[in-house]
Amino acid sequence: MPQRHIVYLHREHPGDMAQLPEYVKAGGYNGLMKALADMEPDDVLYQLHRSGVRGRGGAGFPMGRKASFLPKDSPRPAYVVCNADESEPGTFKDREIMEFNPFQLLEGIVLAGYAIGSNHGYIYIRGEYEHQARVLDRAIAQAYEGGYLGSGLLRSRFDFDITLYRGAGAYICGEETGLLDSLEGKRGQPRLKPPFPAVAGLYASPTLINNVETLTTVPVIVAKGADWYATLGTEKSTGTKVFSVSGHVMKPGNYEIVMGDTSLRELLYDICGGFRPGHDFKACWIGGSSVPVLTAEHVDTRLDYESCETAGTYLGSAGCIVMDDSGCIVRSSLRLAHFYRHESCGKCTPCREGTMWMEKVLQRIVDGEGRMEDLELLESIMGRISGRVLCALADGAVAPIESALRLFRDDFVHAVEHGSPAREPMAPMGA
Ligand SMILES: Cc1cc2nc3c(=O)[nH]c(=O)nc-3n(C[C@H](O)[C@H](O)[C@H](O)COP(=O)(O)O)c2cc1C
Ligand code: SF4
Repeated sequence: MPQRHIVYLHREHPGDMAQLPEYVKAGGYNGLMKALADMEPDDVLYQLHRSGVRGRGGAGFPMGRKASFLPKDSPRPAYVVCNADESEPGTFKDREIMEFNPFQLLEGIVLAGYAIGSNHGYIYIRGEYEHQARVLDRAIAQAYEGGYLGSGLLRSRFDFDITLYRGAGAYICGEETGLLDSLEGKRGQPRLKPPFPAVAGLYASPTLINNVETLTTVPVIVAKGADWYATLGTEKSTGTKVFSVSGHVMKPGNYEIVMGDTSLRELLYDICGGFRPGHDFKACWIGGSSVPVLTAEHVDTRLDYESCETAGTYLGSAGCIVMDDSGCIVRSSLRLAHFYRHESCGKCTPCREGTMWMEKVLQRIVDGEGRMEDLELLESIMGRISGRVLCALADGAVAPIESALRLFRDDFVHAVEHGSPAREPMAPMGA
């Protein structure tokens, strides 16, 4: 099954693409040179718009549209912020870009800055990515030395600086406004929206915030043109998407594929080598853990935004967590409830209290102390969370568990009657 490497350019080239000369040899910085020589900022913005590229961080919002929301007459400086927090469970695609193809990301940030009239970009990288932060640090230094960053870059009249900022390991700092508060040195908690970051983001200034993978597509769109890019994929899901596949498949890993070309079945069986002998597919969370679960019934879903929605889920970050028939959906639900309870920032009562009760009820079901009414209780708790909170963490906590309870109800009934069919007892998870 063909993979197509646009953001994983390093997989196409033998040299070390984390070194500036190798990146340039592979055609790197052609997009930036073209933009600075022949294009006005609005032309770049138009190319982004026309390409149809959608945000790869989770929500899938069109990048060009978001960039066009920034006010042009603001007296404040505009900023580009790259979301490199990569904290969604099952998602490890940005790590590979930063480690092996860092200059394409830097070029994308500069181009985004050129398009919106910004002279400063920030990369907010998760604290655990220490090695990737070092690689980026070195790449940024090389880019300054080579004239690809700084004042009058590439002998143009455009100035651009990039600052790397390391987070400290909170899931909520991946949420864009929590990230901005953290970047400003405050406790990372989501802000009330509106105003959206495009209008009042970092230091209350117009801010374009995009995911690593989204920004890494920009140089290719500019160099090859939006029309070329839009020939890949479907009408509403253009380009390629990296799927981080983890769990019970023979060949887990990152796979960059053209959207809509491949089905979930082809991804799992042809690309990822299928399952262990004697086992088969049971469930998968295709967009990271914060999306409704898919069952064997959905295995022919095509991998693009629209088809995933038709199947009742979201493409999200495409962190595809796979479970075979040896897995227990009830225990997985408990594990997820524990994660969201732990990562809730606590600002909204329905999320803070609701995720705690979800975990408690699931724990007692797994422990074999559940009652049949607990299933309705769980549904009722979840029904009181969504739509009553500030950010999408809470919806992400409800979606996988609500769908598991609906699609695998027999497993939950069995767990209430007999406890979780676990091979070993599950100790209550700590704080
Ligand atoms: C709880 C939570 C965690 C998130 N974590 C990340 C993350 O780690 N990386 C990311 O790019 N987006 C993350 N997002 C999405 C961001 O809020 C935002 O939509 C994204 O950075 C926009 O970039 P994009 O349009 O390029 O996807 C998260 C959202 C929520 C609600
Ligand atoms: S929904 Fe949860 S994580 Fe988001 S702001 Fe409210 S309490 Fe914090």
